[in-house]
Amino acid sequence: MTNEKVLVIDFGGQYNQLIARRVREHNVYCEMYPYTISMEKIKSLNPIGIIFTGGPNSVYEEGAPKIDKEIFELGVPVLGICYGCQLIAHTLGGKVEHAEKREYGRQEAKYDTDSLLFKGLDKKGICWMSHTDHVAALPEGFKVTASTDTCKVAAFENKQKGIYGMQYHPEVMHTHQGLDMLKNFLYNIVKAKGDWTMSNFVSKSIAELKAKIGDKKVLCAFSGGVDSAVAATLIHKAVGDQLTCIFVDHGLLRKNEAQEVMQVFKEDMGMNVILADASQRFLEKLSGVKDPERKRKIIGKEFIDVFEVEANKIGAVDYLVQGTIYPDVIESGFGSSAVIKSHHNVGGLPDVVNFKEIIEPLRDLFKDEVRKVGFELGLPHDVVMRQPFPGPGLAIRIIGDITTDKLEILRDADYIFREEIKLNGLADKIWQYFAVLTDMRSVGVMGDSRTYDYTLVLRGVTSVDAMTADWARIPYDVLEKISTRIVNEVKHINRIAYDITSKPPATIEWE
Ligand code: XMP
Repeated sequence: MTNEKVLVIDFGGQYNQLIARRVREHNVYCEMYPYTISMEKIKSLNPIGIIFTGGPNSVYEEGAPKIDKEIFELGVPVLGICYGCQLIAHTLGGKVEHAEKREYGRQEAKYDTDSLLFKGLDKKGICWMSHTDHVAALPEGFKVTASTDTCKVAAFENKQKGIYGMQYHPEVMHTHQGLDMLKNFLYNIVKAKGDWTMSNFVSKSIAELKAKIGDKKVLCAFSGGVDSAVAATLIHKAVGDQLTCIFVDHGLLRKNEAQEVMQVFKEDMGMNVILADASQRFLEKLSGVKDPERKRKIIGKEFIDVFEVEANKIGAVDYLVQGTIYPDVIESGFGSSAVIKSHHNVGGLPDVVNFKEIIEPLRDLFKDEVRKVGFELGLPHDVVMRQPFPGPGLAIRIIGDITTDKLEILRDADYIFREEIKLNGLADKIWQYFAVLTDMRSVGVMGDSRTYDYTLVLRGVTSVDAMTADWARIPYDVLEKISTRIVNEVKHINRIAYDITSKPPATIEWE
């Protein structure tokens, strides 16, 4: 694999990570940096192409993000999108105008297919606009290569200098042929080789991990979640039994989860996984606790304590594995190492483990790439496509205090829900789906008897990043089947509700 790299300069627009992901989907590696990146740093990265993203500002605003003119003299092709395209025009002596009204939505554009950017594409197509300012006059040496009825300069270029701009968003699906335009930029203009594939990544990483780790010891806090599973498997492929994974069972996992994780990773993959069964200890500490934040704190602290005991049994290690992925790196402000996600319950691990260095084998990858690596490594579909599961587990899906009886009720009900979703082919369409056991009981009738039992809530949401979510439109007949099965098969549930709130105003979890 070559070291070719495209640099994506982030001006703060909402589709920025999407641009980076699209570049990588075309098998070209890219890295994203904030617009404050210095020229020295840009030069040291030695990019083969540069993309400016969109952003919320107007080029004339005080304090609006700027770019050093020198970037256009590096001999590296540049593509500006939306704000990025206005910034090119503005910086190189063109004119950007402020429109009265924001232009938002689909527009039909006409493209000049003599341009390398539009070569081989249809001459007309829908593009997605979202801007207030627009380029009114081009800098010298530039020409218009696309326009719409309302936006005369929808795309422009200076072929000699390798500078290109698009006012619309090629990275969103609404832009017809948008992905092909990015591909044209990468292959016709930047002349990328395109060897960023997950199979290349896997072989390169394994070789690098082998060289780095040598005969040293590695420790991993294993949750069975996608990131930690893929990170650990990659390291295992590189150094085998020098890696020890500690999997803490806090007694708040879903039905059969601990056994399934051990089966896949210990038995099938042959990894050195230690199961620390601490259920009793967690449940005792949680006894009578109703407040969700207290539950989280107790679980977080117990987790660290249990891990410390297990890690001490192993003794000093050289490396501690962390499943950091690229969005964590970008969102943490491009520090040298991403902070462990505060949401996760492993925040204090580095303090209690005797290690020399953190190792983050997935820190350059987006989530979809992590999943592809998981498949490359031969992990089963269910592990790779596993839905997110919160660290505190079922503790935050049982409203009020937690008892072993309630845990059993919830596990059985949740299992049926998940089983039916899978059987009906909906598993990969829903971001998260799970059952919540409420603290409420109500009257029902079963056979000839009156019941007074729990209400169970089913929650299913669609989302792209869990920041916002919509309730999943699970077909009525599937919901009916789930409801009938749960009430018949799980004792002490006599009523089922489906949560139809989005996030915001609700959250995905109930606690
Ligand atoms: P909310 O409920 O805040 O959830 O909309 C957003 C995403 O985060 C997960 N979540 C957690 N994950 N520890 C975790 O590791 C937690 O305490 C926690 N609380 C929520 C939730 O499942 C969803 O994916």
